[in-house]
Amino acid sequence: MFRKLHEPDSGITIDIDGVPVTAEPGEIIAAVLLRQDEPWSRLTPITRSKRAPYCMMGVCFECLAEVDGIAWVQTCLKEVRAGMRVARQIGRRRLTP
Ligand code: FES
Repeated sequence: MFRKLHEPDSGITIDIDGVPVTAEPGEIIAAVLLRQDEPWSRLTPITRSKRAPYCMMGVCFECLAEVDGIAWVQTCLKEVRAGMRVARQIGRRRLTP
């Protein structure tokens, strides 16, 4: 859906649903999610419809995903880090690990 306007000079690797993905240092997770072939971040708890990052400024909560085992992270407010594990959030949050 989206692509970068330039090729990054250096990249780091993060993991999205078990797939290694290249990201640029300082980039936010939501931007990386939007560049994927399947550009969504979560499924709604009731209807399981796909949601994707929208406002990119912490207002809409459409970008929620699980980051390093922590659910309900607003991915538009968090920068990537090498080795970070991102999982698209499916339905309701688990209360126990
Ligand atoms: S994209 Fe709207 S809160 Fe993250």
